[in-house]
Amino acid sequence: MVKHRESRSGQKAAGGPGAKPRRDMPGKLPAKPARDSRPAKPSRDLGERVAEPRTAAPAAATPERPLIARTGERPTERVPVILESLGAGDFHLIDSGNGLKLEQYGPYRVVRPEAQALWPPSLASHVWDKADAVFTGDTDEDGMGRWRFPREALGETWPLQLLGVDFLGRFTAFRHVGVFPEQIVHWAWMKEQAEAAKRPLKVLNLFGYTGVASLVAAAAGAEVTHVDASKKAIGWARENQALGRMEKLPIRWICEDAMKFILREERRGNKYDIILTDPPKFGRGPNGEVWHLFEHLPLMLDICREILSPKALGLVLTAYSIRASFYSIHELMRETMRGAGGAVESGELVIREAGLDGRTPGRALSTSLFSRWVPK
Ligand SMILES: C[S@@+](CC[C@H](N)C(=O)[O-])C[C@H]1O[C@@H](n2cnc3c(N)ncnc32)[C@H](O)[C@@H]1O
Repeated sequence: MVKHRESRSGQKAAGGPGAKPRRDMPGKLPAKPARDSRPAKPSRDLGERVAEPRTAAPAAATPERPLIARTGERPTERVPVILESLGAGDFHLIDSGNGLKLEQYGPYRVVRPEAQALWPPSLASHVWDKADAVFTGDTDEDGMGRWRFPREALGETWPLQLLGVDFLGRFTAFRHVGVFPEQIVHWAWMKEQAEAAKRPLKVLNLFGYTGVASLVAAAAGAEVTHVDASKKAIGWARENQALGRMEKLPIRWICEDAMKFILREERRGNKYDIILTDPPKFGRGPNGEVWHLFEHLPLMLDICREILSPKALGLVLTAYSIRASFYSIHELMRETMRGAGGAVESGELVIREAGLDGRTPGRALSTSLFSRWVPK
């Protein structure tokens, strides 16, 4: 069961609706919990190690088309919507503070940098000291070298489950663990749509990473197209599919630049009922195509709208960018969806601390912004 709730305008929004995630802020060292750790600069560019260019020059290789001039009414709006998760399956947030978070992933307790956690930790330092893995980011080594295992040496991967789907947790060089659990609320929503539909929904998962969302959608009966630029990430996604013995489910794994892929789908007239898009602030396609959120997001949404089917059920955008507020992506989504009817609801995805037992609500940790168009 997913322990999450949705809060809307008027309800008390933890972190405040205007609170902007600052994912570029270096984590702070706590006095005790991770005395040996030196949290690395947060980065969402996964799978491959890519350096952000100093200039924001658009890549010559990026194929573009002009934005379509949209007319008609903007969809109605629901703001702020705070989608909150208290954990699900094998995951919960135990505690946070002093620029760090302490999370439970199956059997392991993990300490990672968390720029949003400006407050002091709730739990005693001896609880944090019992962590199984601490991300230090203190070497240039790839993979496991940037993790410290205070109790015993751990393997690179371990089995986890969320929303009934098996996948591997993984200690990656980018401090990530193979899943972004705050996305559970979107995945649970998508699962409900897919199970309730009286036909196999076509789901497009852009920037799909290790494929957990794709597996959740496919397990719920959807036909899934998963796109990611990283061969490594696609490999991990396929491993996850095999782990859950889900090879027979209809998932197309596509290693391509997301923008190139959707432009082609638009030309071909292919349509999707649900599109999930979770772009990083900066990324690269397999042929060096440059993705810059602030430069390319308007066109990406514009194309996504064109490839929504006439009976589409949603276009869901998550952004971890630090310069924007949720209103930036909210108003962009409403402009893009002019004349389509429906509603755009936007806000933040937050995870609430759940304590050692996973059932004791504490403070809310903001993780990202989201905006989603829905037909009703
Ligand atoms: C933020 S993660 C997505 C996380 C995923 N949606 C989830 O919640 O598990 C970013 C992913 O985008 C991919 N990526 C970066 N640039 C890309 C591009 N130009 N085209 C396609 N994928 C890209 C990376 O390889 C990485 O797997």
